[in-house]
Amino acid sequence: MIEAKHLSKSFGPVHAVNDLSLNVNAGEIYGLVGSDGAGKTTTLRLLVGALKADAGEIAVCGFDVRRQGEQARANIGYLSQRFSLYEDLTVLENIRFFAELRGLRRDEWLPRCMELLDFVGLANFKDRRAGQLSGGMKQKLGLATALVTRPRVLLLDEPTTGVDPVTRQDFWQLVIRIASPSSRSPLPLFPSSERKRGKGAVARPAEGEEGIAVLLTTPYMDEASRCHRVGFMRGGRIIAEGAPSELRAMLDGRIVEARGAALPDLRRAAAGLDGVEDVRAFGDKLHLRVSPGRAGTVIRSLSEALPAARIEARPVPPTLEDVFIALAS
Ligand SMILES: Nc1ncnc2c1ncn2[C@@H]1O[C@H](COP(=O)(O)OP(=O)(O)OP(=O)(O)O)[C@@H](O)[C@H]1O
Ligand SMILES: [Mg+2]
Repeated sequence: MIEAKHLSKSFGPVHAVNDLSLNVNAGEIYGLVGSDGAGKTTTLRLLVGALKADAGEIAVCGFDVRRQGEQARANIGYLSQRFSLYEDLTVLENIRFFAELRGLRRDEWLPRCMELLDFVGLANFKDRRAGQLSGGMKQKLGLATALVTRPRVLLLDEPTTGVDPVTRQDFWQLVIRIASPSSRSPLPLFPSSERKRGKGAVARPAEGEEGIAVLLTTPYMDEASRCHRVGFMRGGRIIAEGAPSELRAMLDGRIVEARGAALPDLRRAAAGLDGVEDVRAFGDKLHLRVSPGRAGTVIRSLSEALPAARIEARPVPPTLEDVFIALAS
């Protein structure tokens, strides 16, 4: 559904996007993760045709974004990082505005808008001024507006940043339903798509079923873990890509969790050890990233370095955050 090849975009001397290639399939939720300025927003703006690439090719639903921009865009729903609502208009007026802008006729927009407001849980708030919505409600309204045209590709730029954890969960349930194939017609989307899922994982559509391709950016690692695939961006490039489990496997055996002494003492002792690449606090424990094959020696040396303490240290399964920190450093 999204096929980008060797995309580049510079702003003066800044290579915001640098030879980036990316595919997202129907029914797939792909997460772009990276620190501030990594190039995530620029990538999405290139895909939607809001910016012109210096080099590279993009096809959305088979349409070349450069030569068939209108057809490509007709298939895209885009929620930009700093999208704004008309605060003085009501919820319904806001979504109506987007619907009319995208060419929906009068007899089409009302049922469609009500269906979407119902879907995102805002039907009861349709007459409230957008300026009086909570942050999470605004994001849900933004999502509803991005869905007005029944897009086959959905681009969401940090849709949950600054939103409370419970509302983030709600938002994710919506995204999962959008991506799942039975949601295609008519959108939205109902519990027939709620299939059995593995722990924390999102079900992929069965072969032959077509869902919506969702590409989103997020600063939250718990959200990245919920994507089918994740791309880590740095300096305009995707430096690692894969299913969350594949990415975590990159650090198998290399994360040691330690506790048993005051954290500052533990940190000081750990940081000085041979084979320790990084030390981070994870709640009341430390996570040490060790060089390949060094977990055993590091655990022994740590106890020797703090003989008066009862150090508990053991290798633990890496988290996506461990992987992200390793890739970012
Ligand atoms: N319109 C622009 N003019 C000049 N420089 C820009 C422009 N847009 C982006 N940049 C630069 O390109 C780089 C990538 O920016 P981009 O907004 O794509 O990053 P991002 O990964 O979305 O960051 P964030 O997590 O902060 O949203 C940054 O160095 C940014 O300053
Ligand atoms: Mg951004």
